[in-house]
Amino acid sequence: MMLETGKIRENHKAALPYYYRMVIEVPEHFQALPGQFLQIQIESKTTDPLLRRPFSIAGLSRNRVTVFYQVKGKGTILLSRLQAGDSISLLGPLGKPYPAVPGPKIILAGGLGAAGLLFLAKNLSLGSQNKKSVVLLGCKTKEDLFLLDNFQDLGIPTYCATEDGSFGFKGLATSLLTQKIKKIPGKGTLYACGPNPMLAMAGKIAAKHGWSAYFSMETMMACGIGLCRGCAVATINGYRLACVDGPVFPAEEIIWGKLPPHPPLSPKGRGLK
Ligand SMILES: Cc1cc2nc3c(=O)[nH]c(=O)nc-3n(C[C@H](O)[C@H](O)[C@H](O)COP(=O)(O)OP(=O)(O)OC[C@H]3O[C@@H](n4cnc5c(N)ncnc54)[C@H](O)[C@@H]3O)c2cc1C
Ligand code: FES
Repeated sequence: MMLETGKIRENHKAALPYYYRMVIEVPEHFQALPGQFLQIQIESKTTDPLLRRPFSIAGLSRNRVTVFYQVKGKGTILLSRLQAGDSISLLGPLGKPYPAVPGPKIILAGGLGAAGLLFLAKNLSLGSQNKKSVVLLGCKTKEDLFLLDNFQDLGIPTYCATEDGSFGFKGLATSLLTQKIKKIPGKGTLYACGPNPMLAMAGKIAAKHGWSAYFSMETMMACGIGLCRGCAVATINGYRLACVDGPVFPAEEIIWGKLPPHPPLSPKGRGLK
């Protein structure tokens, strides 16, 4: 973990209306693995907002880090206003990455959980593993599937579920998971990130089929470095900190009944342009 100063190379809307893509130039020595994240300081000249905000590393190519974010509140509104050429303070890479496990794999993303999983899918696509891998993207409606092209470009079979049926399978991503997992012979590994109810259900499905499962838990975070204890996740080994012990945890260790569902994600009414 290091404190780095990056230079923003791109920061623009990736999809209507609230999804953004930011590309940051980082020092040559910067290394990261899928599942790790950055704590980004939004404002360099003032202390408001005081706390850094956590974002998954969605890609690292040479000395460029990509982050996808959804504008939700004060921090991300200000983030969306930064321009190419602006400097930005980054703490990271933070957290433990997804473990590499041989055998078939399913990547399951709910909403913006797809951002960090794109980095994992990219790494899988570089090896011989992509023929045995499948990506499942679940969203409320087709407008939220803005990372679909990025996954398809990797050559990994990618299937979508939308709750309103506007694209792909109509229903929950976990229903699509139930269909797909049955069709893959042998035991594999499920990697997932998304809302807690989706993860809780996905953990049950994986266990039923004898698959191992590793989930990234995007809790609320303040410090990101193990000091505030604000990101605790209830596990069978006691409370663990998502920022340093995670954010990736084995699904079988998480006590789902003690986790909150994700807060409402609607950015409407927050004065966004
Ligand atoms: C490890 C990790 C990785 C993440 N990766 C990404 C990413 O790649 N892209 C992305 O857009 N977001 C990601 N998030 C969530 C992101 O950090 C929050 O959306 C962001 O901090 C909101 O800041 P804000 O100031 O705009 O909103 P605030 O004003 O702080 O809050 C606005 C709304 O967003 C909700 N919110 C705040 N934090 C979270 C959170 N962690 N999860 C869900 N809802 C939250 C609040 O409850 C509130 O309803 C990640 C979070 C974690 C912990
Ligand atoms: S965010 Fe402070 S301990 Fe994890």
